[in-house]
Amino acid sequence: MNQELINEIRQKSDIVDVIGERIPLVARGKNYFGVCPFHDDTNPSMSVSREKQIYTCFSCHATGNVFTFLMNYEHKEFQEVVKELADRAGIEVQGLKQKRVSTKYDEWYQAYDLAMKYYQNNLMSSKGKKAREYLEKRSINYDIIKEFELGFSLDEKDQLTKFLTGKNYSIDLLNKAGLTNEFHDIFHNRLMFPLHDLTGHVVGFSGRLIVKSDQNKYLNTKETEIFKKGNLLYHYHIAKQESRKEKYVIIMEGFMDIIRASTIGVKSTVATMGTALTKDHIGSIKRLSNNIILCFDGDEAGKKATMAAGTLFEEANIEVKVISLPEEDDPDTFILNHEKESFYNLIENAIYFSDYKIKALQKDVNMNSSEEKADYINKVLLETAKIKDPIRVEIILKDLAKNYEISYNTLEKSFRTVQEAQQIKKEKVVMPSQIVTPKVTLDKYQKASLIIFYYMLEKTWVIDMVSKSKIVFPKEEYRALASAIESFYQKNGFINQADFYTYLGNNEKLLQIFSQMEALTLKDEITEKEMREYFKVLDQYRVEKTIQQLKKKLKEEVDPLEKAKIVEQIRQVRIGEEK
Ligand code: GTP
Ligand code: MN
Repeated sequence: MNQELINEIRQKSDIVDVIGERIPLVARGKNYFGVCPFHDDTNPSMSVSREKQIYTCFSCHATGNVFTFLMNYEHKEFQEVVKELADRAGIEVQGLKQKRVSTKYDEWYQAYDLAMKYYQNNLMSSKGKKAREYLEKRSINYDIIKEFELGFSLDEKDQLTKFLTGKNYSIDLLNKAGLTNEFHDIFHNRLMFPLHDLTGHVVGFSGRLIVKSDQNKYLNTKETEIFKKGNLLYHYHIAKQESRKEKYVIIMEGFMDIIRASTIGVKSTVATMGTALTKDHIGSIKRLSNNIILCFDGDEAGKKATMAAGTLFEEANIEVKVISLPEEDDPDTFILNHEKESFYNLIENAIYFSDYKIKALQKDVNMNSSEEKADYINKVLLETAKIKDPIRVEIILKDLAKNYEISYNTLEKSFRTVQEAQQIKKEKVVMPSQIVTPKVTLDKYQKASLIIFYYMLEKTWVIDMVSKSKIVFPKEEYRALASAIESFYQKNGFINQADFYTYLGNNEKLLQIFSQMEALTLKDEITEKEMREYFKVLDQYRVEKTIQQLKKKLKEEVDPLEKAKIVEQIRQVRIGEEK
């Protein structure tokens, strides 16, 4: 679909109407306000601007245009959202098939696809007999092998390398793509699991030993330009489809767990590739479902991982649920050894992470020590104070009162104190007024930068001013944003915030700058003279930076003549500043 058509669809899909059809909005002044659906809240902290066709949450910093709102709210892909809005606006998009964008990685994807087929073929050949027997022993049948595209790497020297170079892939490309190591095969005698990127291309492999050995159980493709374990999740490309039908997405630890769950129809699942969960992972997972469930191994390591993952989600303002398995099980063995209904029950009865934590805290309490008991109760109150649902809070307090024989009133009073203390901490970030107003601490250089960005998106003459100036923005992502604005303008000859959002896609880092910018609530008009003042501030930054660097050089320099030269340079820069 071409950009002009996409812009037209956006223009004909009024953001206030589209969001208003989904959550209640109230008009206040020029903007509309509603309770932000992207974090747990009861205050109307999200503002929607009809004029600019964007939304911004002052609390969780979600921001974007009508497309990003629907993508995040309904967990859909860009293409899908565009189509739906086109239908809604009565714009014909049929026949306008999306042109497949070819990338420099097309050849890599093709090579990976071939490698996968090659491994699959090995598994089915006479040389794959041992591997097939292994799979049979683990109750992995032919259908699952096909579904997960499992394969086998031979115990022979450089078979894959020969195969792929024979198909005219350069050894240089294969090395770079992580398919070969110098001139050699990487995987030998291993069961091969293809690893897909978020859109479904095969971009790597994990190979599992099928015999006891002192080597690592799994060997993965090295990190490449297209294979980054911190971003990718096993099975994500399938979970993306499945999570629309199911009301959950489950995070597991192992490949085998995901595969086993699939055999009982639990397919809305993802796993990391043997690494800890990252913020990037969370960003991808939260787009799949609002009901995220952790289902890790039942052992100590699994409990630790649950705690770490739950906390990471908590920091992102998402409360996940938890399935606890028996000590000796992982999802794979649990499903193997129980009726499938047992696992469905676990999904149905997953508990909130906060409840899980409270249960975990209880484990080590010595019931004979009043001190330990009191300490435990205080910790529970701290956790409970994070819970927004008053009904859940009351249930927890009543349980505590009953189990520890404390009067409900005493407990409730302590709880209020804890809650108030936490409230005060929070208010440092978010003010408690009805409509939450923003509060961001920025230094003067950052503030000047944001102001300049704001008007670059409003007035093209400001873009020209920036292009012609020597100013340096004080942060890496600021510089990235400035050049993105410049190139959008160069390409399209116009600029506005809503279309620029489409252009940025899901570049979270740059989008975050926008919520800070919105938080400054700047006036509509600005004169060139005023603008120049902000440029001066940034010029000062450049001067200070230069002087800092020179001073550092001065310190390291030993030659007195050279030292004098640097001192003179510093003086010159200072004079330049005064002018
Ligand atoms: P099975 O042992 O066949 O049941 O596999 P599993 O997938 O259940 O593995 P396990 O629970 O032992 O480990 C969970 C995940 O951690 C695996 O799926 C891998 O992603 C990763 N992992 C485990 N062992 C290794 C290893 O030796 N090297 C690497 N790189 N990753 C590993
Ligand atoms: Mn396992």
